[in-house]
Amino acid sequence: MSAVVRRLRVSDAVDLQGSCFPEQTLDAVQAYAEWCLRQMETGRLLRLVAEVDGHAVANGQLTLQGDQAEIGSLVVAATYRRQGIGRQLLRALIAEAEGRGVGILVLAADVQERWLRAWYEREGFVHIGEHLLPRDERVSVLQMQLGDREVE
Ligand SMILES: CC(C)(COP(=O)(O)OP(=O)(O)OC[C@H]1O[C@@H](n2cnc3c(N)ncnc32)[C@H](O)[C@@H]1OP(=O)(O)O)[C@@H](O)C(=O)NCCC(=O)NCCS
Repeated sequence: MSAVVRRLRVSDAVDLQGSCFPEQTLDAVQAYAEWCLRQMETGRLLRLVAEVDGHAVANGQLTLQGDQAEIGSLVVAATYRRQGIGRQLLRALIAEAEGRGVGILVLAADVQERWLRAWYEREGFVHIGEHLLPRDERVSVLQMQLGDREVE
């Protein structure tokens, strides 16, 4: 399935709460979206959504600092998974980072989801180690050097 990938709008909060963050209140998702939009104006953050039939069904973000950036909050609504939307959004975030001259792109993936590391590696990320987060969550830290990546 091909989705339309675009920048977050404040009006996406209703769709995103229902599709990606059902465990959060609409007020919380709305407040976070507003915060993201303020950060986007400063150039420190980019949050993208993937839209299907006029509704936001996935989102992901890029946090920019100097020549580095981190991908976070990559979530596809459960009913839209395994249809290529996650990969489309991930590729769009990588392209945005490249377009901004980012040299190193990093992200953290839950090691319990064993397939996730391979999913990122297929897109050109390299596992550089594991990290233990508060609440005993172990993550695989993955990195991509932009400019010299190889994609399947
Ligand atoms: C990670 C995530 C964004 C992937 O998005 P997606 O749209 O489902 O992924 P794609 O359709 O682009 O890729 C699908 C491929 O990924 C792999 N994959 C996806 N989900 C999988 C699962 N539950 N088990 C094993 N492999 C899986 C498979 O290779 C799959 O291909 P296949 O369906 O032909 O077997 C989505 O699963 C998600 O939102 N997960 C919850 C939040 C999360 O963990 N985010 C990552 C934070 S680092």
